[in-house]
Amino acid sequence: MGSNQKDVGILAMEIYFPPTCVQQEALEAHVGVSKGKYTIGLGQDCLAFCSELEDVISMSLTAVTSLLEKYGVDPKQIGRLEVGSETVIDKSKSIKTFLMQIFEECDNTDIEGVDSTNACYGGTAALFNVVNWVESSSWDGRYGLVVCTDSAVYAEGPARPTGGAAAIAMLIGPDAPIAFESKFRGSHMSHVYDFYKPNLASEYPVVDGKLSQTCYLMALDSCYKRLCAKYEKIQGKQFSLSDADYFVFHSPYNKLVQKSFARLCFIDFLRNASSVDEASKAKLAPFSALSSEESYASRDLEKASQTVAKSLYDEKVQPTTLIPKQVGNMYTASLYAAFASLLHNKNSSLDGKRVIMFSYGSGLSSTMFSFRLREGSHPFSLSNIATVMDVARKLESRHEVTPEKFVETMQLMEHRYGGKDFVTSKDRSLIPSGTFYLTQVDSMYRRFYSKKAGNETTTADNGTLLNGH
Ligand code: ACO
Repeated sequence: MGSNQKDVGILAMEIYFPPTCVQQEALEAHVGVSKGKYTIGLGQDCLAFCSELEDVISMSLTAVTSLLEKYGVDPKQIGRLEVGSETVIDKSKSIKTFLMQIFEECDNTDIEGVDSTNACYGGTAALFNVVNWVESSSWDGRYGLVVCTDSAVYAEGPARPTGGAAAIAMLIGPDAPIAFESKFRGSHMSHVYDFYKPNLASEYPVVDGKLSQTCYLMALDSCYKRLCAKYEKIQGKQFSLSDADYFVFHSPYNKLVQKSFARLCFIDFLRNASSVDEASKAKLAPFSALSSEESYASRDLEKASQTVAKSLYDEKVQPTTLIPKQVGNMYTASLYAAFASLLHNKNSSLDGKRVIMFSYGSGLSSTMFSFRLREGSHPFSLSNIATVMDVARKLESRHEVTPEKFVETMQLMEHRYGGKDFVTSKDRSLIPSGTFYLTQVDSMYRRFYSKKAGNETTTADNGTLLNGH
């Protein structure tokens, strides 16, 4: 026991996203924007959202119970649990404490950790905390758990199509198939008002969309350069895009991911890295004298670098884009859902690969870090993680709703936000069995959840109640 554990990282993962979704193409027509604005302009296919039955707590209850069950992990074996979320349901009581219901049932109340919040970065902060715990002298030999859970909803307007919702649970321990290369890491933290939630009466953020795009790219530049510098100091050679097999980005919408990877190609060009061939150098040369401010604003550079990056993007990024395009921005879960897409698409060929992750949370906090993958052994193997997450089936079995129904749900949720004294719909036909759902919020604002039973085919109220309520 104690410090100096080897290959600390992610042993197991489970993802949950709501079964209700709306097609971006249908949204375009409904809102009346030009055809292609959300699907090509933002690069998004579909948007998942919570109905009145679901929230960040129910989604994380579902993800955690499912992870423990499917990997055969005894809840007593968990020694630390941290949650990353920016969806505020209570200003004091952490989401983690709701999850304790799972563990109290088995008499395990000896679990450290609470919630971390900073926009989409909270999940990464939670993950680092748990990894650091396992690597520290206070580690007691048990597993850690990290949960990223968010419901991303925006007011009507240009940001609304960049919503989404999901929860991801990750089991942390030594000898992991997804191991941190802890030394290869670069962060950039600063004070900006690009996206924030000052209005505590509303779930919606205040967002300066254009500023948030520039802040994201500036943070990306800075983190990448720092990671490169650290790598070079340790390895004694230059780091470039050729030194990693996959690049996974926090994905508010796919177009920004395309631009981000193109930006890294441009940085490699400026650093005169070997990853950039002569033909690409010629295409990027006209932009080499731009100041960084000018370079963020240059449409010509954006186009040229995207052209240069295209084939590498298809190889190193495209396999990570499935879930973010299909579900939307999941805030803290977004980066890890992109990573889950990679495991889903490439699980049989990932042994030995290096994956670079970029986490961004507005306000702002950002880190680029590195994973080294190996197949691992059952149940903690890359192929089993892909099997358990069962991404294709989860995506296929969703229910598409009309934009009208989506807007109606948003209105109901606005009305319910911060409210008390209500019960939710008895119609649970759309949520899969084994899923947790909100049953009521009582006069003391206490929230109660239930689990949809495996044999529940009717809409009768026969789920399993949590906490004996
Ligand atoms: N066909 C194809 N493309 C189109 C069409 C069309 N008919 N119409 C517009 N477009 C393109 C535009 O050219 C633009 O592409 P570009 O970025 O390559 O120039 C793209 O669609 C977006 O259109 P814009 O008018 O530039 O932007 P819009 O007003 O729609 O807002 C934004 C987009 C800023 C992303 C908005 O959705 C938003 O604020 N989202 C939330 C903030 C966010 O996600 N920021 C990212 C980092 S912070 C975070 O993670 C929360």
